[in-house]
Amino acid sequence: MKVLGISGSPRSDATTAKLVREVLGAVECETEFISLAGKRIGSCIACLGCVETNICVLNDDMKALRQKIVDADAYVIGAANYYSTLNALAHCFLERFYQFRHREGKAVAGKLGVAVGVGGSTGDAVVQSIRTFFEYNQIECVGEVTAQGPACCFTCGYGETCKVGAIHNFFGPGTKITPEITPDLSKQPEKIEEAHVLGRNLSDRLKRFAAAT
Ligand SMILES: Cc1cc2nc3c(=O)[nH]c(=O)nc-3n(C[C@H](O)[C@H](O)[C@H](O)COP(=O)(O)O)c2cc1C
Repeated sequence: MKVLGISGSPRSDATTAKLVREVLGAVECETEFISLAGKRIGSCIACLGCVETNICVLNDDMKALRQKIVDADAYVIGAANYYSTLNALAHCFLERFYQFRHREGKAVAGKLGVAVGVGGSTGDAVVQSIRTFFEYNQIECVGEVTAQGPACCFTCGYGETCKVGAIHNFFGPGTKITPEITPDLSKQPEKIEEAHVLGRNLSDRLKRFAAAT
């Protein structure tokens, strides 16, 4: 049994990646973690080139990920909240699961999934979208976990004076950026514990599945 963890955030070692890794860390079987940061994955272009074979014909970094997706028994998919939905890279990655859906393709159907969402304020919209992707692909969602990550305004250099950024919006004008007010996963132990519980639940489900087959 193998669990594939994907962080769809363009920031390679930020909160989404960390939270996906926390779930994977509690999984008691083989795991692999992949960050999509820096990868070139375009959107589905509805060319229908995958209809006969269930293999996407587009030539980008999704090609190398396809076999890993097929080989995995479960997925921990994480994404960042960009404008109250999935960040585009994660969305493109999930759109490309379209290749698995034709003519009752069974590459991902019947497998298990965990949704991970991170936002400057909330990851709720993200996990909802990931759940929808799971449903369309007949992946059973075992659960979800969300956490708060630092909006770019904490590090852009203008956060304390910018009137349209997260610092003004969350804390009001005149707020100094300090480590105390900067969101970090390590300050959200309840979220880390939720991630561990999810990882254990996923393991239990996979073990029961393995025992029954
Ligand atoms: C283009 C862009 C749009 C964003 N929109 C939202 C948003 O609508 N809601 C929100 O809560 N956070 C928003 N954020 C903040 C990110 O969700 C936050 O920085 C989060 O920590 C990103 O995940 P990461 O740390 O794994 O990269 C946005 C960030 C960017 C770069």
